[in-house]
Amino acid sequence: MAHGAFRMVFSWQFWRMALLWTGSILFSRLLLLFSSSTWPWPWPSPRAGNAGSGRICVVTGATSGLGKAAAIQLARQHYHLILAGRNPELLIQTTQEIKELGLNCLVEPIQLDLSSYISIKNFQLSLKQRLSDLGFHHSIQLLVNNAGILANSFRETPDGFDEMLATNYIGAFVLSNLLMPLLKNSPVPSRVVNVTSFTHRCAFDLDVYEVLYARRKGQNYPCASTYEHSKLCLLLFSYELHRRLHLEPTCHVSVMAADPGVVETNIMRELPLFISRFSLFVLRILCLLQPPEIGVNSIIDASLAPPEASGKYFFGGKCRTIESSSLSGDTEIAEKLWSASSAIFKEMESNANQTISS
Ligand SMILES: NC(=O)c1ccc[n+]([C@@H]2O[C@H](COP(=O)([O-])OP(=O)(O)OC[C@H]3O[C@@H](n4cnc5c(N)ncnc54)[C@H](OP(=O)(O)O)[C@@H]3O)[C@@H](O)[C@H]2O)c1
Repeated sequence: MAHGAFRMVFSWQFWRMALLWTGSILFSRLLLLFSSSTWPWPWPSPRAGNAGSGRICVVTGATSGLGKAAAIQLARQHYHLILAGRNPELLIQTTQEIKELGLNCLVEPIQLDLSSYISIKNFQLSLKQRLSDLGFHHSIQLLVNNAGILANSFRETPDGFDEMLATNYIGAFVLSNLLMPLLKNSPVPSRVVNVTSFTHRCAFDLDVYEVLYARRKGQNYPCASTYEHSKLCLLLFSYELHRRLHLEPTCHVSVMAADPGVVETNIMRELPLFISRFSLFVLRILCLLQPPEIGVNSIIDASLAPPEASGKYFFGGKCRTIESSSLSGDTEIAEKLWSASSAIFKEMESNANQTISS
């Protein structure tokens, strides 16, 4: 363990996190002070808790940190919750905890591993079945793509991708596309919220194919830059999905990106204990660290803001948006990423169909 921490402290990736990530959160805070926009709430008092009455939302990574905090806040708005998580025990435990709050909503756990296409497909089928069993309309109103990891080594997914990229981006792309018919079928406006990160600002270029198909095995896994790229991809996807949906005249699905800032969660669980504890200590001293109950505000803002805020980047709570990096607004790269991701999606789909039929 000490050896791992020692090696990490002397790696470029560590200093990238320590210096560039701190710089980018400070930059985001500056943007918040000098050039943020505030969106009006569509309800007189959304925090009073009736925004989601009878509506259904899916929250991925709902068993920990921001996902759990978001699920609780959305339950307070009377959204019916579909909790999606990869660990069945944690899912049951989280479901129980939320039910014990006695909020007026339904809480249903469904297992989902975003690093596996088969698992995402099974989730889609289970969700449709659950909606039928519960007698609900065949639609959902909100999808919060929150699940994410900060991995410290290359691990190959069953579909052949880097696990961090697959969980943070490819899985969210596939899930959003598989659930799009349910979002479009909603009788009221519906929404996708993608939980991204200020660290996307540290990615200064994006070679789409190199990032999507990267297989960096061995000790020099670029954990910081892979995380940054995965969050940049999720943000490019948010904006591209927004643009595409708004070309459809009757479409009422909006797409928001949410950046929670720096939040004390389990996200650093794979880093050596000394490094994660020391980082939290420094971030607390710099007054940059927030508890999940505060960090979640940008996710809730993005979930409840008026549909006209589609395509915006929520940061800092109080329904405020700021500009994301100029690279994230590059429409050419976004289109390239979309077609590469669609090709991956189609290939996964056909591989799965072949496996089933053989
Ligand atoms: N914390 C921060 O400072 C910060 C800042 C900016 C953005 N974010 C983003 O916020 C999101 C939530 O992270 P967090 O900080 O709340 O971290 P966290 O406490 O570690 O929670 C991550 C959640 O994602 C789930 N998850 C991981 N891999 C998954 C997979 N393959 N399939 C399904 N679920 C999976 C985890 O489930 P298990 O419990 O089963 O592992 C957990 O519920 C992430 O996208 C992260 O990148 C966090």
